Amino acid sequence: MSELNTRNLLSHCIFETFHVRLVNKYLVMKILIINIKELVGVDENFNPYLSGAAMGKLHTIKNAFLFIDKGLILEFGSMEHLFIPEDWKKKGIKVIDAAGKLVFPSFCDSHTHLVYAGSREIEYIDKIKGLSYEEIAKRGGGILNSAKKLHEASETELIGDALERLEEITWSGTGAVEIKSGYGLNTEDELKMLRVIRDLKSLSPLTIKATFLGAHAIPIKYRCKQHEYVDMVINEMIPQVAAEELADYIDVFCDKGFFTIEDTERILMAGMKHGLKPKIHANELDYSGGIQVGVKYGALSVDHLEYTGDAEITALKDSETMPTILPGAAFFLNMVHAPVRKMIDAGLPVALASDFNPGSSPSGNMQLILSMGCIMYRMTPEEAINATTLNSAYAMGVSEELGSIAIGKTANVFITKPIPGIEFMPYAYGSNKVDTVILNGKVL
Ligand code: NIG
Ligand code: FE
Repeated sequence: MSELNTRNLLSHCIFETFHVRLVNKYLVMKILIINIKELVGVDENFNPYLSGAAMGKLHTIKNAFLFIDKGLILEFGSMEHLFIPEDWKKKGIKVIDAAGKLVFPSFCDSHTHLVYAGSREIEYIDKIKGLSYEEIAKRGGGILNSAKKLHEASETELIGDALERLEEITWSGTGAVEIKSGYGLNTEDELKMLRVIRDLKSLSPLTIKATFLGAHAIPIKYRCKQHEYVDMVINEMIPQVAAEELADYIDVFCDKGFFTIEDTERILMAGMKHGLKPKIHANELDYSGGIQVGVKYGALSVDHLEYTGDAEITALKDSETMPTILPGAAFFLNMVHAPVRKMIDAGLPVALASDFNPGSSPSGNMQLILSMGCIMYRMTPEEAINATTLNSAYAMGVSEELGSIAIGKTANVFITKPIPGIEFMPYAYGSNKVDTVILNGKVL
């Protein structure tokens, strides 16, 4: 088959999937889940997020029910208070018996780069042999390597690959995901990435937020004139991204060897003029000042945070910015660990996200992130669950509708396999504990 025909066939398949998904997305029904061993993440106070000691409290109901209608959580409580109408079948209610199983709000993955072309396992070998992330980047590898591959890929190919990744994370319990651009690094390719993300929003049952990350790396031809690249981000990219309404947020990789505080301030101000709220990469490689600049511009989140000291903790205190840790990147790059225990003990909130990307974290498995949160950062299972659900929902601007079990929230939940209790979720790392996925009130 010629390449053209293969592409046409792929487009056709994508359209078919799109059509079926659209029909299914709105074919929601009433669902009653009964005999739930433990309903996890109940939040009757509609907290936007949890901080400090409150992160250690995970509200649950044992022997519970959950009622879903029109895609929303309509009622929940103890089985003792449940009255099931005799004619439930006639009333169009699907009853699911969850005896021995737990029900969780779906994970919210507030930081990913899951639209990308190809993979970078060669650099993985370089890393094993001792090259650092910065050294690989300096040689033109890293993000620039992905930018080259992305330039050569069509939108159709990028959509097809990203849909497969979305499917995979859906079955490991993710119900909402933020996706960044940043492998374009020129106006045309950045717009291409963001249009792909826009299309994914309608193709996938997941809740998706898009972040413009034109300032992810400096292309080689701008190496000695970085300010010209920043000018292009500000004067060319941001206005076009805004005109097509392609992004919800704006990001900058504010770190040693990448973008400076001054670059970051200029870019964030330009983005904010167009209504793009900041969410930034900060303090992964050094005490870059990125956390402070994020807080100064009211960032929704500052992410990575390996280099967080007392000054950074003070800056985050009393701010509305969610400190977000990316354990997958710290694990994969063998980096120092962010001082999560100290941050929570100082009263801060913390979110956890996957950073799913081909260079520093080629996995979007939030169950694994949960386990890493506990083992690598000494978070309790309760703290790590709050960090991957409600707090990460806040970090992507969706905690009013997702991230906990509360009346009126979107019914994005998963039912586990039969498991002993909540601690088993991070404990049994590497195996999939998710049995049934419900998104927008529909069983997948
Ligand atoms: O979050 N730190 C910057 N950006 C990504 C890495 C992207 C890549 O290496 O492709 C991150 O780790
Ligand atoms: Fe990232």
